[in-house]
Amino acid sequence: MQNVIGIDAGGTLTKVAYINDQNEMAFKIFPSNDFAQVKHWIEQHAHIQEIGLTGGRTKQLLEVLNTMKSIQYLVEFEATIKGVRYLLKKEGHQLKRGIITNIGTGTSIHYMEDTEHFRVGGTGIGGGTLTGLSTIMTGISDFNEITKKAHDGSRESIDLFVKDIFQGMEPPISGHLTASNFGNVSILKDKKHKDQDLLATIQGLVGEVISTLSIQFAEERKSESIIYIGSTLMNNEHLKKVIGNYTILKKHHPIFLTNSGFAGAIGALLFKVEQSKQTS
Ligand SMILES: Nc1ncnc2c1ncn2[C@@H]1O[C@H](COP(=O)(O)OP(=O)(O)OP(=O)(O)O)[C@@H](O)[C@H]1O
Ligand SMILES: [Mg+2]
Repeated sequence: MQNVIGIDAGGTLTKVAYINDQNEMAFKIFPSNDFAQVKHWIEQHAHIQEIGLTGGRTKQLLEVLNTMKSIQYLVEFEATIKGVRYLLKKEGHQLKRGIITNIGTGTSIHYMEDTEHFRVGGTGIGGGTLTGLSTIMTGISDFNEITKKAHDGSRESIDLFVKDIFQGMEPPISGHLTASNFGNVSILKDKKHKDQDLLATIQGLVGEVISTLSIQFAEERKSESIIYIGSTLMNNEHLKKVIGNYTILKKHHPIFLTNSGFAGAIGALLFKVEQSKQTS
């Protein structure tokens, strides 16, 4: 099966899933603004014969790859759900139904029940928002630096919490909930903020919008579990904490899967593997 790979050419990142020399599934990431790197990697792996390709930048990648291999286009949602089902099984989850929230450059939300699935909505607030706002507000654009610094940051002086408004009173809802993301800035009139605090607060904004929307869809569909996937969660404990805590507070069950950013590429690989088994 080493001659088959799956590629997910996303808005920001191109993910590759392949079978390595030890016969295990392995992964590679390339920036989607430099497809020559993907082409070079495929050329270096001359044994690759078949490619399952998915993602919004499929057409752009195809133009760079030209007709170098046998390439089959797969619908992104189908490939992603197939990858999610594989990862759920691998990690021992047995779900009848669930909301799947894919936090990519933007965020796409799906509902899955038994063998069926469909898109229920989404938001433009996603990983691109996280890196974009971080770059504009702090000058830090490297994703790993953003997540590392955010981890040490505090939201206290920038966000306005319910307890900040209801001082000396019993608030009608939990005092620790965010009343207004970034809402404390204009009130405190404190213009100086540490990069790490700004980065933590941006993660709070992004995570809370995404989890709030996901929870609403979960309630509408009477689904207990919400599976959060996408490369935005990769090595990003702070965002996972924001999303996980809020989801639990709202009485839903958050699931974070290892390598979830590769779900689309895994699905594309599995489609091709199944196909070649059928034809051999
Ligand atoms: N090495 C990296 N470089 C840039 N962004 C990264 C990196 N690692 C993680 N990210 C984060 O992951 C996000 C992209 O996630 P993902 O790969 O799931 O989306 P995509 O497939 O490119 O986009 P979409 O699905 O919306 O087309 C980025 O916006 C950023 O927040
Ligand atoms: Mg994607």
